[in-house]
Amino acid sequence: MAEELIILTSTDKQKRYDSLLPQIKSLVDAEQDVVANLANIAAALKQAMNFFWVGFYLVKKNELVLGPFQGPIACTRIAFGKGVCGTSWKEGKTILVPDVDQFPGHIACSSASKSEIVLPAFKNGKVAIVLDVDSDQLNDFDEIDKSELEKLMKIIETFL
Ligand code: SME
Repeated sequence: MAEELIILTSTDKQKRYDSLLPQIKSLVDAEQDVVANLANIAAALKQAMNFFWVGFYLVKKNELVLGPFQGPIACTRIAFGKGVCGTSWKEGKTILVPDVDQFPGHIACSSASKSEIVLPAFKNGKVAIVLDVDSDQLNDFDEIDKSELEKLMKIIETFL
């Protein structure tokens, strides 16, 4: 198993995702443990995409609980329908927030966070986890992030 990530220094985000996603696929194909895989994915995203905060919240009973992540410490529990993460869980879809101050009910785990994207992954037809990516820049996520990270969620669904 490749234990070293090949990091593209290209400023072209699409190229970096194109290089990263197959490497993540190989990593998770070689391991079945959910937490181990989510931990490596968070680290790979941080290393390759240099995100400010990137990590997972796992659905446990009636709330989201913090899972593997990279970045500053974060809120540990989020209720169904609350914040961007709880809304993504409730609606079962990607939520892209260009300016967190404009999102009603945004949960500010870090005051440095300015924009955010949250994507769900499903198990047996229900949201099982969400991926949360935060930026300290306004308007930092676009349709490329949405479509590439949605591909990543499909990879994640193969081991949930
Ligand atoms: N901002 C998120 C909470 C999680 S932290 O940003 C890591 C939200 O509104 O759901």
